[in-house]
Amino acid sequence: MTDAAISRALAALAAKGVTDPIHALIVLGTGLSAFADGLEGATAVPYADLPGFPAAGVSGHAGRFVVGVAEGLRVAVMQGRAHYYETGDAAAMAVPLGLAKSLGAREAILTNASGSCDPALRPGSIALLSDHVNFSGRNPLIGAAGDDRFVPMDDAYDARLRERMARASKACGVPAREAVYMWFSGPSFETKAEVRAARVLGADLVGMSTAPETILARRIGLRVVALSMVTNFASGVSGGAPTHAETKIVAAEGAASMRRLLSAYLDLSRREEGRP
Ligand code: HPA
Repeated sequence: MTDAAISRALAALAAKGVTDPIHALIVLGTGLSAFADGLEGATAVPYADLPGFPAAGVSGHAGRFVVGVAEGLRVAVMQGRAHYYETGDAAAMAVPLGLAKSLGAREAILTNASGSCDPALRPGSIALLSDHVNFSGRNPLIGAAGDDRFVPMDDAYDARLRERMARASKACGVPAREAVYMWFSGPSFETKAEVRAARVLGADLVGMSTAPETILARRIGLRVVALSMVTNFASGVSGGAPTHAETKIVAAEGAASMRRLLSAYLDLSRREEGRP
């Protein structure tokens, strides 16, 4: 079913003249959609026109698939993602990721908004995910067939791409500390006790996306690098009492930094991988 939807989505893109290979899929999280506005020669397709794509639901998400050139590299950008909490389907991003792979993408660059469990990792900062914790009991590959469902996750967040992102961070002056992300289903925010538990389990950040996408991406051989916009202290951390409104405002304020960092990263990628 996923494969059929990917073929139909590919045909829908081809009908709009989008056929050239892409280097990467970039997924923009809550409040971070602006990056796509800077693409050259862009074609934007509403998710509604792409079979298997999520219905645009969460406010702060534009719901468009935009293909164009950034820093000389052809990329596809998702303005908004599907979250598990919208449908109860942890594999809701399988078609967009599969489509990107079919278009030739080698990597998925995931961004999100998150809450910080660490008083030293303050709202407004950007973190580079080094790993995740998925103790939700949910996995996008439950029910999948074949031995390739047993996806190795020891290298979930690619070491080489992380190292490149760290250099991009230095080059553009946007700091991005490494952090471990813990996936909660949402849509309710965490309790204070859950955030204390997350910290004990090794997490620096909590959020409602990314981990299932990383699992799906790794299954199809896309390398993953992920950035998190810290929008708030998680419940109980330094008085944190998160709201969706606050999340959207702080993410929008940080969108310019995120954009600079993504551009610096793509610039390095083009120079080091030497293909358009
Ligand atoms: N918890 C979960 N998801 C989030 C948060 C949070 O505190 N902030 C932004 N996304």
